[in-house]
Amino acid sequence: MLYHNAVSRFSTRTSWDSSESSYAAAVREARASGRRVYDLTVSNPTRCGFDYDAEALLSPLWDPRALVYDPDPRGMRVAREAVAEYYAGHEASVSVDDLILTTSTSESYSFLFRLLCDAGDEVLVAEPSYPLFDFLADLDDVRLRPYPLFYDHGWWIDFSELERAITPRTRAILVVHPNNPTGHWTGSGERERLEALCVRHGLALIVDEVFLDYPLRELTPPPRSFACGAHPALTFVLSGLSKIAGLPQMKAAWIAALGPERERAEALARLEIVADTFLSMNAPVQLAMPSWLAGCAGIQGQIRERARENLATLQRVAGESPGRLHVLEVEAGWSAVLGLPGCVGEVDCAERLARERGVLVHPGWFYGMGEAGRVVVSLIGLAEEFAISIQRAIG
Ligand SMILES: Cc1ncc(COP(=O)(O)O)c(C=O)c1O
Repeated sequence: MLYHNAVSRFSTRTSWDSSESSYAAAVREARASGRRVYDLTVSNPTRCGFDYDAEALLSPLWDPRALVYDPDPRGMRVAREAVAEYYAGHEASVSVDDLILTTSTSESYSFLFRLLCDAGDEVLVAEPSYPLFDFLADLDDVRLRPYPLFYDHGWWIDFSELERAITPRTRAILVVHPNNPTGHWTGSGERERLEALCVRHGLALIVDEVFLDYPLRELTPPPRSFACGAHPALTFVLSGLSKIAGLPQMKAAWIAALGPERERAEALARLEIVADTFLSMNAPVQLAMPSWLAGCAGIQGQIRERARENLATLQRVAGESPGRLHVLEVEAGWSAVLGLPGCVGEVDCAERLARERGVLVHPGWFYGMGEAGRVVVSLIGLAEEFAISIQRAIG
């Protein structure tokens, strides 16, 4: 008997162009060539030679309480208490009742997009910023509208463009504090203007603080979490263990809901139903969260030190090679934006570096940067490798 396969039908929201870009082909070929690869993109902290205390990290997973299934849609109270403690350590008072646990910041975004937006509604996102947002928005039928950051001895929000981007369909403004990849903090003046805009237009403010604990230099006064202070607008602060405890594999994150009481309570009641629909958190990880959060200073210190050392290398090499390497001002986070004037040409700079020198960097266009010769490097790779690779890049 002959069977005819029916043609499968898929959603348009998943009809992404998954063909290989010429940059991805260049990276694949560099890796397959057998020649040495100089990788400046490694940003997985579990692969960067940091010293993780296996006993301290794994023993809290062995907790007999995990044998009982007793789900709480907002997340286990012991884990939420630990998150509230984390904020207390940042001089912010966040109630355990205002927290929703998720398995990742990405999941937090998805919950919030679902909470705030109908299909076709808009969220304003800084440009340059983290590329994952595009896929999250597609999956949740949300339209992202960029608002520009401009560079002038540091990065700044272009407020006139931001206001111009607000339409009747706008539901939220998204801020990454400090931003990835630019590594700049949202200043207190900018925060006030963002909050005023949100209040005036009835928008929510979503603040991603996954890199909050990674200042690359000390500032006075030190930048503060958006969880601190008063919240005139409905505000959601996001973070999670993948960056603040260097544990992306443990899959634990959260949303802190802040703002005027009535709106906040309504948001939390709805988010609780979203979370209850999935109940995606598992018991062992939640029971281990208090211990991991209490112990995260050690790994944070190692990552900060590495990032600062690599940034110092960049600045030294830039000083020694005038006109060949430009390090854009960076205040915090795990990455740096570089200008490579010698790499401007027909072919994209990151692709050329991969093909001609076996050096892997992220192209600026990944993050929405149009300027030729602009690339992004991770600052958390092994220091010796980093120094060799950056020399090779400017060669
Ligand atoms: C700004 C930003 N937010 C969120 C994430 C992802 O965090 P998670 O692993 O909790 O989904 C990343 C990952 O690099 C990021 O850069």
